Amino acid sequence: MKSFVTGLCNQEVLKLYENLPHGKRLRAKLVLKIAGSGEEAVRLAAIIEMIHAASLLHDDVIDDAMVRRGVASLNATEGSKQAVMMGDILYSKGFEELVDFERQIAKKVASAVTQLSIGEMMDVRLSKRFQPDPDAYMQMIYQKTAALIEATAASAAMLAGKEAHIYAVYGRNLGIAFQIVDDILDISQSSEQLGKPAMHDFEEGKTTLPYIYLYEALDKDGKERLISLHGKRLDDDEKEWIKAAMEESGALQKAYMYARELGDEAVSLMQGVGETSLADIVTAMIERDF
Ligand code: FPP
Ligand code: MG
Repeated sequence: MKSFVTGLCNQEVLKLYENLPHGKRLRAKLVLKIAGSGEEAVRLAAIIEMIHAASLLHDDVIDDAMVRRGVASLNATEGSKQAVMMGDILYSKGFEELVDFERQIAKKVASAVTQLSIGEMMDVRLSKRFQPDPDAYMQMIYQKTAALIEATAASAAMLAGKEAHIYAVYGRNLGIAFQIVDDILDISQSSEQLGKPAMHDFEEGKTTLPYIYLYEALDKDGKERLISLHGKRLDDDEKEWIKAAMEESGALQKAYMYARELGDEAVSLMQGVGETSLADIVTAMIERDF
């Protein structure tokens, strides 16, 4: 990824790129584990990480997020205009490199980017009001998060001459479970552990799966109170009420069990084709605490 950015021969871009925090590099790890570490696999891994990094730069502008991966976001330090343009540069450079790949691989990754953009648009729309429909939520997280992970696993399998469909299902389940765990951690963990403000999703207007399950479990007064807290800055008492209600109702646990079921399916798919380290990635992701 760095050599692609260095190849742009632009000091300003390189400096901005070097200050970006790296994150977990889940997508690159998947490519390398599925397709090995030959030159093409490394290039594909870098391209997908560039697209992912671009999407987070844009997402932080859209979400007005000041912190990303434990440090100030690029929009916080350089302003939204620079963050949008840096996202465009990473995204375009990724596509410039992607066109050298076999058509079905390039198409798979490119169409996932369309999906994630539509998913982000749906997320923005759904965040305008309290949204208790689990199907709408699942559709949105599939497009926003899982589509790129699905395409990552499938395109790496194509590169390696493996059965792309099995890897696509693995990636889809991993991606959906990943986003649900992310949504759970937003409620259960502290800001220090997360590297971004805790319990911020609901303040931002996002009715994530634990909130949908909580709403289903609450009585009439509880439902009204929950809706009244949606999309506003929460004080400590309000946060405590939500956390306690999440525990009492079993909403967090129910969301976790759902992520676990999807994860277990992904694990057994990979065990079936002898890919134990890909199965281990799912287990570590489900059991992570940041
Ligand atoms: C994070 O969601 C956001 C995404 C996974 C996708 C964002 C996609 C776009 C902005 C589309 C544009 C794409 C490109 C390639 C330029 P989140 O806000 O729920 O998670 P967070 O807590 O990590 O911010
Ligand atoms: Mg965001």
